Amino acid sequence: MQFANDLCVVGGAGHVGLPFALVFAEAGLRAAIYDKNKTALDRIAAGAVPFMEQGAEALLRKALADKHLAMSDSPAIVGESRVVVITIGTPVDEFFNPVFKDIRNCLAELKPFLREGQVLVLRSTVYPGTTEWCARWLRENNLNIPLAYCPERVVQGKSIEEIKQLPQIIGGVTPEGEREALELFRRISVETYLLKPIEAEFAKLFSNAYRYIHFAIANQFYMIAESAGVDYNQLLAGMKFHYPRLEGLPSPGLSAGPCLLKDTMQLNAFAKNQFALGAAAMNINEGLVMFLVGRMSARWDLKEKTIGILGMAFKPENDDIRAALSYKLKKVLEFNAKRVLTTDPFVRSDPALLPLDRVIRESDILILAIPHRMYKTVDFLGKPVVDAWGFLEKESGL
Ligand SMILES: NC(=O)c1ccc[n+]([C@@H]2O[C@H](COP(=O)([O-])OP(=O)(O)OC[C@H]3O[C@@H](n4cnc5c(N)ncnc54)[C@H](O)[C@@H]3O)[C@@H](O)[C@H]2O)c1
Repeated sequence: MQFANDLCVVGGAGHVGLPFALVFAEAGLRAAIYDKNKTALDRIAAGAVPFMEQGAEALLRKALADKHLAMSDSPAIVGESRVVVITIGTPVDEFFNPVFKDIRNCLAELKPFLREGQVLVLRSTVYPGTTEWCARWLRENNLNIPLAYCPERVVQGKSIEEIKQLPQIIGGVTPEGEREALELFRRISVETYLLKPIEAEFAKLFSNAYRYIHFAIANQFYMIAESAGVDYNQLLAGMKFHYPRLEGLPSPGLSAGPCLLKDTMQLNAFAKNQFALGAAAMNINEGLVMFLVGRMSARWDLKEKTIGILGMAFKPENDDIRAALSYKLKKVLEFNAKRVLTTDPFVRSDPALLPLDRVIRESDILILAIPHRMYKTVDFLGKPVVDAWGFLEKESGL
């Protein structure tokens, strides 16, 4: 059977999908992307990556020049592609329950364009059992298509490098699904590790929940020490000094973003809301915002103060504001302070952001929400800077 494209990434204009398509295009495959976001597709077609992703722009230009990247906002392109890789978002709702209908609707849309001879690879982070559900859906729709779950495990912003470096976990539903997925990843010469689909689903969720809990440990220690009047970051430096067993203990800070919280909550939903460590981690990480504002209120009369928030992305050296705790901080401060100003050197999607020098000039107090490297060398004009991260290596200001 002939296909115009070797693979098609569904959700291919997104943070996971685009780098994935580009890496396979670089390996010589005829890649395609299908995405509902026409604006993002237009930017990609013009050679621009819609978000920060190291090394992606060069690969995109090459893929376009080599005619190795097709794209469409119509699912019909899926019918012209042999391997179909699903990378759409898998959010939780406002009650922290997984939103399953997105996967179900996506498959329903793809159905007219699926046929024997194709292969389906699920790459999104999914609620345990989703791969089995998809296998059942294929059977019920008389679609004899091999299926595998192969989770994306990259860190956002470094996908191009990490897709080619990290071992790929492969959860084939059938031996054929497993073989097809192995064959796909052989094209980029990475190590692979075989698991059952349910194991692969847990592997991804456990990894994210582990990291989220890890950050919560640091934040809980921070809140205990600071409440006792102890400078935690100074103490942390002493704890870790030439002490290998604590090498992995992260610094405290606003830990958030589009994956860690929602995947911990997917696991909590799966565990019938008995994932006590995960729920505690959410309370601690989300609670850090209130803790910081409480400490600031105890020191200053915030009603009389203009507060400048430095860094609005969800993590350093990135432009992604999805689920960033800096926005929760903004909301809480807007309730408590006279005025709140925000700035970020990378974020382009928020018209409220102001230039850094103006925020410093007009603020009475600054708070470092995200430690972008450039803040290390900035002159804060002697204004107090609240820095839970211990990044500026100055007095925390609290
Ligand atoms: N962002 C990360 O670093 C990361 C890392 C590992 C895993 N993941 C997981 O990967 C998945 C995608 O995350 P993301 O950050 O790339 O999200 P994203 O929002 O950046 O990308 C998803 C893309 O899918 C498109 N889309 C949604 N529904 C569609 C449909 N039915 N048909 C076609 N296109 C559709 C959207 O327009 C968007 O471009 C999630 O499950 C996430 O948990 C993300």
